[in-house]
This record gives sequence, C-alpha cells and structure tokens, in this order.
Amino acid sequence: MDKKPLIIANWKMNLLLNEEVGLAKQFAVKLERFAEKAEVVVCPTHLGLIEVSKILKPTKLILGAQDMAWGENWALTGGVSAGMLKDAGARYCIVGHSERRRNLGETDDMVNKKALSAISHGLTPIICVGESLDERQAGKKEVKVISQLKAALKNIKGDQPTVISYEPIWAIGTGIPAEPSEVALMVELIHQTLVDLFPLDLIMKNFRIIYGGSIDSGNIGDFLKLRYVVGGLVGTASLNLEEFTKLVQVTKLSK
Ligand code: PGA
Repeated sequence: MDKKPLIIANWKMNLLLNEEVGLAKQFAVKLERFAEKAEVVVCPTHLGLIEVSKILKPTKLILGAQDMAWGENWALTGGVSAGMLKDAGARYCIVGHSERRRNLGETDDMVNKKALSAISHGLTPIICVGESLDERQAGKKEVKVISQLKAALKNIKGDQPTVISYEPIWAIGTGIPAEPSEVALMVELIHQTLVDLFPLDLIMKNFRIIYGGSIDSGNIGDFLKLRYVVGGLVGTASLNLEEFTKLVQVTKLSK
C-alpha cells in the first residue's frame, strides 16, 4: 500500500467545461512537483473527464470520477458505467456521497452495487459514509456509520484497493470541520468494522480510510495525524488553486 497521503479533489457540479480544463491545467503545473509527497486525485464532472484526462495523463496526478452507475451495457438512461470511466482514464470513483444519498435517494444497496462494479473493473471505489447532525444528536452516529459501511461492503472480498471516506454530513460544505477527536473515534470504529469483515493482512494491503468535510490547508495536518486517517476528500478548497496547492504542499503522513 502506498504510504503517501491520498488527497482527492471533488469539484462537484461547480465548473463549466472550460473552467474544469483551466483548473486542471493549473493543477498540472502547480501540483506535479508535490507528486512525491501525496497521491492527488482530481474528480471533475463526467463531462470534463475526457479533457481533464488528457491534461493529467503526462503528469503524476490521477483522474477520478464523482459517481458511476453499476453494470455494463444495459438500458439506463443517463448512466455512466465503471467500464466507461476506466476507458476515459479514471482510476478512482466516489460512490455513496451524502449529497447523492440525500438529494437523489441513493440507497445502501445502490452504493454496494456501484462499489462492486467499480472493483470488478479495477476502479478503486471511494465509499463515503457518515451520519447527519440529527443522527449524531440522537446518539445514532455509530449505528449509522457501521450499517452504511457493512451494506456498502457486502460481497466485497477485500482483495482489491478500496477507500473509505468518513464524512459527517454536517461538516460538508459548511466550513465547520469535525473535531479531530471526533473523527478519531469514528475512524477507529470504521477500522474495527473492517476488522470484523476482513482479515487484517487484506485490510493493511487494500483499505485506506480518509476524512472529508471542510478540509483546508490549515486543518488537513490535524486529520492526517490521526491513527487510521491517510488522506482527505476535499470539496470547496479544491476549487481554489492557491488554497488547494497549499493543502497538498503541507500534506504529510506522520505514520
Ligand atoms: P467540502 O466537501 O470540502 O466542501 O466540505 C467535502 C466533501 O464533499 O467530501
């Protein structure tokens, strides 16, 4: 397993194609020199994948996708499969982001199908799990995250690279990150759940746990210090070239 921290830029639905191309070109210039320090994955919209892929190809930056459908060659209007993402040059795909679960009704079962399909095509799924503020206040954060995780990992053997992103919903896009001590508890729980499901050697070899939610250059270090956290899923800060460059620049794993 790569010892470099994994930093994922998730641009969400924020940029037009020419803006994605422009930012990707700037990333390629500014971030290439930090490629030894961090594995940087850039996730544009599906529309931007091909153009961004061409820009990243000569660099060490990696292409990822924000979402995918499961299966291949079936009548799913609007669907983009793992095979198509691979074809476009993607190596990672985010699945089960809370914005899709909440706004588009994505279920645990759909997230599981996407993760399985990604893995079967050699695409690394970035499986997002996390509780809402209501669930947290009702004392249900552990139950929620364990059940999301177990459902997402159903029938997954653990023999392929897989990323789990702990993303408390109340910390996403709010500018208010979770306290590192809170994240520490939850990633410990995620690790423990993995231990319940897979042999330790497979976990060490194939699984990485990251955090997502209002990460910036000032707080990334606090999360990467935590046991089990080896990276970050970055939304808002990844849209700002200077801020994201700084974030990648200060990134280091202390373990
Ligand atoms: P944010 O998004 O950095 O804007 O909070 C994070 C995420 O969606 O994972």
